[in-house]
Amino acid sequence: MGRLSYRPTGAPLGAFVEGFDAAGTGPLAAVPVDELAAGLAAHGVLVFRGAAIRPERFVEIGRAFGELEILPEPDKRHPGHPEIFDLSNVGPDGGVVAYDEPQSVFLRGTERWHTDSSFREIPCLCTMLNAIEVPPEGGETEFADMRAAHDALDAERRAELAGLMVVHSYEYSRANNPGEMDPMSDEERAKYPPVRHPLVRVDADGRRSLYLGGHASHIDGWPEQRGRELLAELVALAGQDRFVYRHVWERNDLVVWDNRWTLHRLRPYDIARHRRVMQRITVAGTEPPVGP
Ligand code: OGA
Ligand code: MN
Repeated sequence: MGRLSYRPTGAPLGAFVEGFDAAGTGPLAAVPVDELAAGLAAHGVLVFRGAAIRPERFVEIGRAFGELEILPEPDKRHPGHPEIFDLSNVGPDGGVVAYDEPQSVFLRGTERWHTDSSFREIPCLCTMLNAIEVPPEGGETEFADMRAAHDALDAERRAELAGLMVVHSYEYSRANNPGEMDPMSDEERAKYPPVRHPLVRVDADGRRSLYLGGHASHIDGWPEQRGRELLAELVALAGQDRFVYRHVWERNDLVVWDNRWTLHRLRPYDIARHRRVMQRITVAGTEPPVGP
């Protein structure tokens, strides 16, 4: 224990981690999960730079944190590892897919601020993204500190928000993707019904944060439009530079983020021209978010 060090990014959240052999080839291969989990809870985003991580090792790192999620529409590109999902604009023929292809539409959907799998009853704990190919420009990922955004509200506003419940829905966010998608099957729809989560969540350490983003459809019990306006207003607040870390990817970066109190979004890149291939794993949560 204690062999890791964290170099903060200089933004309000995020740190580069040193002292962990992410690729798992050297003597420091064991995953110091308690230390990393504490680092994640403290910094929100952990960056491991320069490790070429094999799929087996990637899954091993993920599993150290907990159960791994399988996405609603799983990837078939890693036959032995259904937990790994490629966020990739490369099609089956090895070339980049067109701007309007469902694959691009899905990827461009992640340009909205969101927190992963908030449409589940028990949303995930963290996501891990491993950069295989990065575009020459654009394609950064931004992270917003939702504790800081919450704490920046005045006391009266915080009290108003504290009792509200938000309806999150996969069907809703999918329908809002920026283009045509294949229709969602009845089976998928039945598997992911809308769920309710507190707008202000309180995590195990007692810290409060705003919990919303792209899967958040409306405020429970409010007229839909009014709820959407409030959600949009809060997302705009949180997306200000003062709450954001922008990660500029290098090939072989592994980035892990805490989905409990951060939002993230992809920044645009020339998706119909430049390749961007990221391998992704999501670690499941263990309990539903709790309110104040
Ligand atoms: C994700 C995601 C954004 C990106 O993996 O959940 O939203 O920058 N990724 O690829
Ligand atoms: Mn995401």
